[in-house]
Order: sequence, then C-alpha cells, then structure tokens
Amino acid sequence: PEKLPPRITRRVSSILLIQYLTCACCHRNMFLALPPENPILASHDAIPVIDLSGLDGSIECRMMTVEAIASACAHWGFFRIISHGIEISLMEEMLKAVEGFFELPWEEKMKYASEDVMNPVRYGTSLNTPKQHALHWRDYLRHFGHPIHNHFHLWPSQPPNYRVVTKEYLEEIWKLAIKISGAISKGLGLEWDYIEKSLGEGCQIVASNYYPPCPQPHLTLGLASHSDHGGLTILMQNEVDGLQVKHGGAWVPVHHVPATLVVNIGDYIEILSNGRYKSVEHRGVVNAERTRISVAVGHGPEMTAIVAPASPLVDEKNKTKYRPTTYKDYMRAQQSSAVRGKSPLQDIM
Ligand code: SIN
Ligand code: FE2
Repeated sequence: PEKLPPRITRRVSSILLIQYLTCACCHRNMFLALPPENPILASHDAIPVIDLSGLDGSIECRMMTVEAIASACAHWGFFRIISHGIEISLMEEMLKAVEGFFELPWEEKMKYASEDVMNPVRYGTSLNTPKQHALHWRDYLRHFGHPIHNHFHLWPSQPPNYRVVTKEYLEEIWKLAIKISGAISKGLGLEWDYIEKSLGEGCQIVASNYYPPCPQPHLTLGLASHSDHGGLTILMQNEVDGLQVKHGGAWVPVHHVPATLVVNIGDYIEILSNGRYKSVEHRGVVNAERTRISVAVGHGPEMTAIVAPASPLVDEKNKTKYRPTTYKDYMRAQQSSAVRGKSPLQDIM
C-alpha cells in the first residue's frame, strides 16, 4: 500500500475485516489485500478480495488492479474476485445443475465412473467404494471444457439442462481466466498475452465436488491437501464453508462471500513464473450438518505444450528452477502424486 499513489484512500470493512482501497478517480474498490503478517487478523479470513472491474478502467486503475493481483499471487497464491462479470443467475444455475447431477440415481452417475485421469469425463465417489485407500468424504465429477466442441457430446446428459448451463458457464469462465491471466502476465513483467499465447489451444477442466454431511468430520477430509496442476483455478462454492488454504504453516479458511469467485495459482504458473509465485496447497474439510458443493474450473495449456519458466524471466541472475516437461506428463505425475504423497513439482526442480 505504501507504493500506491496518494489519491487512493484506505478503509476497513467491519463486516469482512478486510482492508480495501478506493480509487479516487472512479471509486472502484481496487485492493482488499491485507499484509499477511498482520497479527490482528491472523485468525480471520484475510484472503484478498479484488474488484476485477478495475481491469476495464483507466490505465491507472488497470495498473493498480494488476499490482493487487500480483501482490495476492506473491503472498497468498489465492484471491477472491468481485465484479468479475459472471452473472449471479448463471452461477446459481450452474450450482443447481451440478447438484442435480449428484442427486441422480447411483446407476446413472456410475455410467461416468472412471479411474483414468485422461478420460474426458470422470465420476468418482469415496462414499461407497470397495477401495481401501478411499479417504475423501466426497463425490466428484470431472470433465474437460474448452475447447467445448471437442467434449460437449461426452458430458453427462442428465439432469436435462446440465450440458446447456455448463457450456454457458465454462465459456464465460474461460474468458475470465484469460482476462486474469493477462493481468498476471503483466504483473510478472511479461506482455499481457504472454500466458494466453503459451496455452496454445488450452485446456479447461471442471471438477465439481459434493461433500455430504459427515457424522465425524474431524476424522476425515473432503479433499486432501494438494496443489493444482493447471495455471489458474476459478472456484465457485455454495454457502457452506470448507475450503482451507495453507499459509505460513497454518490452514486459513476461505469463507464464502456471496457473489465472489475464488482464484488460485496452479503449478503451471508457478513454473512459468520461475517460482516467483507459489502454487499453494489447499484442502477441503467437511462438517456434520450441511452438504457443501464446489465447482472448480482449472485452466492450463494444451497437452503437448512444454511446461517451463518463461524465457524473459530467466537470465544469469535468475537461473531456471524447473526442468521442462510436457503438460500431459506433468498432469499424469500430479495425479499419481496423491498416491505417492509427493508434489510432482519436486520431481522437476
Ligand atoms: C479443489 O481444490 O479442487 C476444490 C476444493 C473445494 O472444494 O473448495
Ligand atoms: Fe484444488
């Protein structure tokens, strides 16, 4: 905040216990980030909230928003966004369509059951499985999105509106991911379209999670600690809390704030940034009372893309920290790392 121009004022919201800055020229709330070491707020939800409409504002607004995103990426690897341009009604419809899928009869959902991570559509459950390593108190549905014409016909055909709603949601989220990637590129000192171009055709994976109430929530997890393999994940959740982010050795809850989306950096951007940004571990906890639903949409490069630090970020002083690999190989290693209990990032460092 010290670096920001003086015409920016600062306020504290008593409800969210977060600090934010209001741009004096357009009155947008530009930056709701707290210094992560702020002791007063250590026990509260301090994940930054960023007003994304700043990216459509004046050049000053854009640069402040870029700075806010860069700061959130460097300190947290996570941030929330408001004024992101996704209609609330579309978010609600998507949550309903996902809920509708999970409420289908078992036989219908099992049509999509698969263990192969490269399968374009996968339903999985830990709630009624013969597997001994079943640890997660959740059902999930994962499938590819963008480029949608390649995958649409494979998506679940039930509930009846699932495909139509999901198509609209994923198309909007893809555009949003590209917009945020532009700001992240700029914040790294790269061209706006650097990350976008690095994706080639790109790859989008939606992972919807359904965590029913658990009678003994302290004995299990909805989803064990992991980092995401892609570049950017954009997550929507219903009003039931459960997401936690690792920060300074502690688990920080990401409370639900209506109308916001949660964004996090994945391994692809950690590698591309040559380690400047960290792909932060996160997990899902469960509760005894209410069903939690989350819809996480990951964005990465096409499968054959080379995953490596951006060349403008590597020089004599900043040596490359990661060995190049293909995204497909990286994804496979990441998916088996849950079994090995080790991040594949360590394998390529
Ligand atoms: C995820 O990490 O994919 C989802 C976590 C959550 O359910 O919030
Ligand atoms: Fe994740």
